[in-house]
Amino acid sequence: MMNEMFPNVRMRRLRGLKLIKETRISVDDLILPLFIDENIEGKTKNPIDSMPGQYRFSIEGVVKEVLEARSMGIKSVLLFGIPARKDLIGSEAFNNQGVIQRAVRRIKEEVDDIIVITDLCLCEYTSHGHCGLVENDKVVNDPTLDILGKIAVSQAEAGADMVAPSGMMDGMVKVIRDKLDTQGFVDTAIMSYAAKYNSALYGPFREAADSGFKFGDRSGYQMNVSNAREALREIELDVREGADIVMVKPAIFYLDIISRVRARFDIPLAAYNVSGEYSMITAASEKGYLNREEVIMEGLTAIKRAGADLIITYFAKDIAPFLK
Ligand code: PBG
Ligand code: ZN
Repeated sequence: MMNEMFPNVRMRRLRGLKLIKETRISVDDLILPLFIDENIEGKTKNPIDSMPGQYRFSIEGVVKEVLEARSMGIKSVLLFGIPARKDLIGSEAFNNQGVIQRAVRRIKEEVDDIIVITDLCLCEYTSHGHCGLVENDKVVNDPTLDILGKIAVSQAEAGADMVAPSGMMDGMVKVIRDKLDTQGFVDTAIMSYAAKYNSALYGPFREAADSGFKFGDRSGYQMNVSNAREALREIELDVREGADIVMVKPAIFYLDIISRVRARFDIPLAAYNVSGEYSMITAASEKGYLNREEVIMEGLTAIKRAGADLIITYFAKDIAPFLK
């Protein structure tokens, strides 16, 4: 026993060699989120004020962006659409000529070997900005499911490899899996936003995606930030309903959740490094308060170390050149 202590044991011996590194991030782990705005014509992109360095793209603009990301080794993208027309039920979300459907087709035509994941939600498409149908100022669950199924099928028809339902409706994964299967899309995967918290860190995204709500808030469907055991129940339900990948969101404030999900479940786990996490680091580094690249790497390493397999991050292109 005595031998297993100082001075025989010196932790600094190996540290000095920099040989042991328990956690590695690979470019294969990264998913790049992209915004496609149907209102942009005649140019490739517009900057997003709340997220310096991020853009809304036109359809032709996003094709270029995906080509560039692919050339940097990034294998998958997560697409959000901003339609020219919004209505009460979000009909543009399941229009086969909608902004996402056209973008997916163009990307699949022009880019080889890219995994296209489509966000599957109503908030960018509804005039009230909620993630589900609204009746008497309430977001109603079951009538929403039917529409989510329709959106899934139209995205799969356009060529999406994976759909990512983000609205936190109960039963959404089951209904989407059933609809996809009955329409013959048995190989279209589902990445479910299984444990999505009602977080203030989504603020910048709502400007980016024009998806802010016109009344109320999302506390009736997204999780209370205080709850951890509830996240495990949410994950378990989505696993049983047929999710292929489950997600915890946000990421860096929720490392405890990532770690608990990893310990309990064997299903692939994604973590969403959200807009607020992006904008905080970006703003602080613009002010010179911290080193951008180092903090990005530290944050993403923490997410992997906690147990995530995949990281959805707006930093993907920033750090791809530093990864193998
Ligand atoms: C909407 C959605 C949100 C995000 C992804 N999908 C915001 C919200 O729930 O209001 C947040 C992503 C981010 O902040 O980067 N279903
Ligand atoms: Zn939504």
